[in-house]
Amino acid sequence: MGRRRGVLSVILAVGLAGASGVTANATPFSPGAAGAGDPYFPDMGNGGYDVSHYDIKLGFDPKTKAIDATTTIVARATQNLSRFDLDFQGPLKISKLTVNGRAASFKRTGAQELVITPRHGLWRGSKFVVSVTYAGVPQKIDDPALGISGWAATKDGAVALNQPIGAATYYPVNDTTDDKATYTQTITVPTGLTVLANGEPGRTTTHGKHTTFRWQMNQPMASELSMLAIGNYNVTHGQLSDGRQNITAIGKSVDTKAGQGKVFNETTAQIVEWESSVYGRYPFGSTGGVIGDIGVHYALESQGRPVYDQRSSNVSGGLLAHELGHQWFGDSLTPVRWSDIWLNEGFATYSEWLYQEKFKGVPAQKSFEEAYAGEDNWTGKVADPGRDQIFDDLVYTRGAMTLHALRLKIGDKAFFQVLKQWPTTHRHSNVSTTMFIQYVERLTHRDLGAFFQAWVYQPGKPAL
Ligand code: TRP
Ligand code: ZN
Repeated sequence: MGRRRGVLSVILAVGLAGASGVTANATPFSPGAAGAGDPYFPDMGNGGYDVSHYDIKLGFDPKTKAIDATTTIVARATQNLSRFDLDFQGPLKISKLTVNGRAASFKRTGAQELVITPRHGLWRGSKFVVSVTYAGVPQKIDDPALGISGWAATKDGAVALNQPIGAATYYPVNDTTDDKATYTQTITVPTGLTVLANGEPGRTTTHGKHTTFRWQMNQPMASELSMLAIGNYNVTHGQLSDGRQNITAIGKSVDTKAGQGKVFNETTAQIVEWESSVYGRYPFGSTGGVIGDIGVHYALESQGRPVYDQRSSNVSGGLLAHELGHQWFGDSLTPVRWSDIWLNEGFATYSEWLYQEKFKGVPAQKSFEEAYAGEDNWTGKVADPGRDQIFDDLVYTRGAMTLHALRLKIGDKAFFQVLKQWPTTHRHSNVSTTMFIQYVERLTHRDLGAFFQAWVYQPGKPAL
């Protein structure tokens, strides 16, 4: 059987090679896939390689709104590659592109494919470096269902918020949640403006009219969680009790209440410390946050440093608990598929309920009962809401209800073990609903198939 199958697959391989235009003196190289296989976003991400690091060097001119940039990507081939794609979209013009230091041919196809053919095929397992130089005025994405993402100009600068599909508006990227990488961002702006980004700051240097800010994220990060904020900010430097930096910033135009910067910084630290006691060690090298008049009408859990749009709502302790809770659920543990986003939003919303329970005297049971009594959220499927519904209340509130129902089913002791051990076990990796269910079943020695069937896989109001 094994031998027959072997012969068959050789015949198939030859057939496929013929179909893709490879002739008799066949090369062992073939193109990487143009997508990573997410049914909601088929163009996003690519196949055939694994990125380990992005180095983004970018200059921004607020007068023209233009950027000029070189992004260098360190990757490893996961197949013998004749060519491969990066995601890159919009009007930015590429002036130079090299692979391993040598000019490579490239073309741009479809909505977001940058197809790169290096001089020589890349052997599976080999490391390679892609460097892309480009310039222009980036255009944000304004998706009817998913809102604004990508590079967006603001009154005093720009922000880049990339969930779920924005990163490719200003850097070439393997824009899929399951190819995490470390980042360095070196951003040059007119002297006087401030730049915030993910991770820890490096040196800031000023040469006359230009100032360069350096930020590095040393833990693996999904591209949708990368962030930049450029503008007039008041910055506050604090620390967690273990000495890790806590850097927060408030846009000057919205920093109107005396002491707001201090309160924002201290509340951030307090919530990170409390969440660490519930969810386990905080996963990143620093924390913080950015509040600004940004205009996207949401807050985002960008890695290590969430961003809060002052226009969406007042930045409350509950909202901080939500975005900081995401640092464990969404950022450190990131779903492979967008259909599993309840593993982010359900836990982040439950973080709000736990915050209310701990600090505001409102038991999570009460938050649950109110949500459960409501008419909403009994039609869609939590673990497959549909592409346009990933930010719907179904995912957030019913996701949190699912967790509370689980708490009632398995008891506080096992439930809080799950809340701490699930993110600890899968730190800095990718997860799925199936993995979560198996994890809880193993920990509790219970069959929870019917429970999760009713709560996440089926529409309809589950019985209690
Ligand atoms: N994921 C964000 C959060 O929960 C919210 C968010 C990001 C969002 N993009 C969005 C909400 C678009 C509505 C529309 O914190
Ligand atoms: Zn959220």
